[in-house]
Amino acid sequence: MKNPFILASGILDTYAETMLRVAEDAGAVVTKSIGMEERKGYENPVIFEFEHGVLNAMGLPNPGIERFGEEMKKLRGCRAPVIGSIFGKNEKEFAHLAERMEEYGAAAVELNLSCPHASGYGMEVGRDPALVKAIVRAVKEAVQIPVFVKLTPNVSDITVLGMAAEEAGADAVVAINTVRGLRIDLEFKRSVLTAGIGGYSGPGILPIGLRCVFELKKVLRVPIVGCGGITTWENVIEYLMAGASAVEIGTALRNDVRLFKNLGRGVKQYMKRKGYERVEEVVALAHQNR
Ligand SMILES: Cc1cc2nc3c(=O)[nH]c(=O)nc-3n(C[C@H](O)[C@H](O)[C@H](O)COP(=O)(O)O)c2cc1C
Repeated sequence: MKNPFILASGILDTYAETMLRVAEDAGAVVTKSIGMEERKGYENPVIFEFEHGVLNAMGLPNPGIERFGEEMKKLRGCRAPVIGSIFGKNEKEFAHLAERMEEYGAAAVELNLSCPHASGYGMEVGRDPALVKAIVRAVKEAVQIPVFVKLTPNVSDITVLGMAAEEAGADAVVAINTVRGLRIDLEFKRSVLTAGIGGYSGPGILPIGLRCVFELKKVLRVPIVGCGGITTWENVIEYLMAGASAVEIGTALRNDVRLFKNLGRGVKQYMKRKGYERVEEVVALAHQNR
C-alpha cells in the first residue's frame, strides 16, 4: 500500500468506475460486500443523514458473486490493491465467495461478519466466536490471499471476536462496522428507515471505533485496520495511536472524494513536526503513555 488509507466497504464501490477514481489517492479499496445471489436490498428510505453522521439499513444490495466478476475485470488495472468484501450464511458460502474473489484477482478478502441489519448474515453470524472461527478457518483453507475479518462493535466484548479470528488464522482484523441505532420520524411515528433499526456511521461513532481498536491492540498480534467516524487527519492519528496500522474510511468520502489526499497531507505534516519518519512509529503510542 502506498499509504494507510483504505476505502471502506459499501461506499462508492458498487461500480468499478467510482472505485478506480478513489483508488488514485487510496492505499487500497474494498468492494461492496458481495454474496452468493443478487439481492435488491430494502425499499427506500434506506439511508438517513443527520448532524452527527448517517443511519443506514440498505439490506446488503449487490449483484451476486457471478455478475460481480464483470466489475472485478474492469478493476484489473486499478492503481491500488482491491480487497473483495464478502458475506455469507455459513463457512461453505464464505469459502466459495473467497475463492471467486481470488480468481477475479482480489489482493485480499474481507469477511463481513458485522453488518447489523440483514437477517441471517453479518453480525448475526459474526457475534458468535465459534462461528467466526469456523468461517475464518474455512476461508483460510480455500484461498492463498490474505484474509481480513471485519468485526462488529455490537457486542459486550469485541476482543473475544478478535481473538477467535486470530486463532483461526486471520491475517488482519478490521474494527468497526456500523453501530446499531434508531431515529424516529415524528409525522409517521415510526423509524426513519424502512428496515427499522439501522447501522450508525460517521463522526458520532469515532470514540467507539477508537475504543474497540485500543482494546483489540492489547490482546492481538495481527495488524488492526481502524474504521469508524474518521473525518480529519487528527482522527487518523488517533486511530494509529490506539493501535491501528491502517484505516478505512466510508461516510466522510461520500461528500469529498479527494479526502484521502488532504488527510495524507495533514498526517505527513504532523509526523514531520514530531520527528517520525514511518507510520509504524506512531502505531500504538497511546498504549505506552497510559
Ligand atoms: C451506506 C453504507 C453502506 C455500507 N455497506 C457496507 C457493506 O456492504 N459491507 C461492510 O462491511 N460495511 C458496510 N458499511 C460500513 C462501512 O464500511 C464502515 O464500517 C462504517 O460506515 C464505519 O465507517 P465510517 O464512519 O467511516 O463510515 C456501510 C456503511 C454505509 C454508511
